[in-house]
Formats: sequence, C-alpha cells, structure tokens
Amino acid sequence: MASRLFHIWSIVASVALTAAAPAARADGANDNRAFIMGLPKAELHVHLEGTMEPELYLVMARRNGITSRYATAEDVRNRLRDAHDLGSFIQIYEELVGVMRTEQDFHDVALAYFRKARSQGVLHSEVYVDPQLHLARGVPLATLYGGLARARADARHELGLDGAFILSFLRDRPADQAAQLLEESRPWFGSLIIGVGLDNPEVKDFPAKFASVYARAHALGLHLTSHCDVDQPDTVAHHWGVIHDLHVERIDHGLNVLNDPVLINEVRNRRIGLTGAPTLFYADIPGRMEYRAGAIAKLLDQGLLVTVNSDDPGMKRSLYVGDLLERVQQTTSMDRAHIVALARNSFEIAWITPAQRRAYLAMLERYVRNADKAQDRTDQIKLTVRR
Ligand code: ADE
Ligand code: ZN
Repeated sequence: MASRLFHIWSIVASVALTAAAPAARADGANDNRAFIMGLPKAELHVHLEGTMEPELYLVMARRNGITSRYATAEDVRNRLRDAHDLGSFIQIYEELVGVMRTEQDFHDVALAYFRKARSQGVLHSEVYVDPQLHLARGVPLATLYGGLARARADARHELGLDGAFILSFLRDRPADQAAQLLEESRPWFGSLIIGVGLDNPEVKDFPAKFASVYARAHALGLHLTSHCDVDQPDTVAHHWGVIHDLHVERIDHGLNVLNDPVLINEVRNRRIGLTGAPTLFYADIPGRMEYRAGAIAKLLDQGLLVTVNSDDPGMKRSLYVGDLLERVQQTTSMDRAHIVALARNSFEIAWITPAQRRAYLAMLERYVRNADKAQDRTDQIKLTVRR
C-alpha cells in the first residue's frame, strides 16, 4: 500500500513539474512540442524487440560474443531501410533480435524503452513481447521474463512509470505452440503479463485458428488484443474475425475499420480500442505517414477510441509517442483538443483498474488546465508589453 501511494505521489510530482514546461517557452512551435511531450499519456502498442535501437543492438552483439554483419549503427539503419512491407520488415526484425540472449539484455532493452517513453510523457505502457522468437534460439522463459520483471521494477522506482507486458503469439505459427506458451507463462501472469496479442505477418487463417487459445487466456484472467495491420489482404474479414472469434478488447493498428461502415458501428458500440501507429518502416514511403495520420484523425472524428503509438520505434526511425503525436498534428488538421482526446483515449482503453484510470485522467485534466492558465498569463504579458 505504502509503495503504491509513493508511486502515485511520484507520478503526481513529476506531472506537476512537466506541467510547468509549456509556458516557459516563448515561441508557438516550441510551446506546442513541450505541451505534447509533457501531456500525460499511456502507450499501448509497442514491441519490446522493436524498441531496440541500433546502438544497443551492437552493445548486445559484442557482449554476447556474436559476430554481427553490421559494424556500425549506421550499417544497421541501412539494413532497416530494406524493409518495404510487413513481411520484409519482420524478416529483418527476426534477424536483429537474435542478439538478445541474457536476462540483462531483456532488462536493458525494456528499461531503455521505458526511459525514452517517460521522457515523452508516458506514465503507463503495455509492451508486446514475442517469446517464441527467443525460445527458438534456446533462451529460457525465466531469463526473458526475469529481465522484464526487473526492468518493470526499475521503471517504477526510477521513473514513476507503470509498465506491463502483452504475451504475443506469432500468428504465422501453429496455434498449439501458442497454447503451450500460454500455459508455460502462467507463473508470470498478473502484474507482469496482463494480456495476450497476435503479431508477425498477417496470414489468412489467423483469427479463427487462435479461438481456443484466446478462450483459455480469457479464462485465465488475461486481457485480449490482436494486430490487424494496415491494408493487408482480407483486412475487413480479419477485423470481424478478431471481434467474433477472439473477442478482443483492442485491435492493434485497426485503421481499416474505416473500410466498413457496419464495422465502425460495431467497434464503437463494443468500445473496442484501436491502437494506431503512424510510422510504417524505416525507409518510410512518401505520403504513408500522412495516410495513417489521416485515418487516425477520421476514426477520432467518428468517436472511436483510437490512440497513437510507436509500434517499433527503435527499428523505425526512433520516433517515440510524443514525437508521433506532434507529427500527427502537423500532418492533419488536428488542434490541441484532438491531441488531448488521443491521450485521454490512451487511458480509457488501458488495462488498468478503475481507480488508476480516474487518477490518470485527473492528472491529464489538471495538466491541460495548468497549461491553459499559463498560456493566458503569457498572452496577458504580451498584451501589456505591446501597450
Ligand atoms: N511485429 C513487430 N511489429 C509488428 C507489426 N507492426 N505488425 C505485426 N507484427 C509486428
Ligand atoms: Zn505492432
């Protein structure tokens, strides 16, 4: 109880500090960036492995005695520029995660992400992890989850950030592998693993073949989400599939809900969250960020519970969630109220207790009020100086 109170207090204190930031700047663009960075927010769609920055990749390769094809971080970035679709991105992703071997590696990747996220206003984060990729290389589950548990504890103490993990199954692999992994992960359910997800390339049969695994995960008290990546073949059918066969509470990406008006109503009525990600690949195709940001704006306008997320920030040009909210605002006609609505949604669809939700939303509203007051004071001073 005492540590919980301390945790809430430390969040209040850090939010109070960041709330002062926007007014300290004179020019509008800096003001806006500071406002967005300090805005309390949750991040709900980010892959542990995809947060690995090229520099950390090299550190782990070296300390694990792995001979890498890449001598410098720039070499890794150049390799990432080869990704041009989901399949080619996943190939590189699976190659790069090969350097993650020890408990320390999992700890360091997670804590580096938590630090970066906290510096951009994230107070709560639910992070996807792909154990099958690591089990296949002989990494024991206890090594993986042990590193994540230590990073989570460090993030709480050092940063006042609440982290949790989503056990993800690879949807291009057999469902019985997923079923076995679910059972083997049970000792870590609760505070460390709070839900299950599906990722990797979007194969045709993916929602239905995981129906019994999802039913079991639900029975074990876990939350449910799944990727439906953007503009994949059969995307509308897959959206319906994750709703009807898997009973998900959220859809990762989910931007193609816009393709079907009946689906829009269904997602709205069921209060299903959509965790949008504006960035595509390292070598982003011109116009794609605008396309995705535009879809997020439309979904928000339609009253859906959509959020902005970084997905694979270390492998996609190091854009974290604050950067992305700023980019989304710049590439659409969103104003400050829209950005606040996106942050509000992130707490609305987070897998937290009602009391935590109320506390985070109250912090967010206080932050916005303080920023508005500070803006009014700045405007007053400018007026007085002009007179
Ligand atoms: N694994 C890492 N990032 C992913 C994404 N955006 N979609 C599916 N699988 C992924
Ligand atoms: Zn993703």
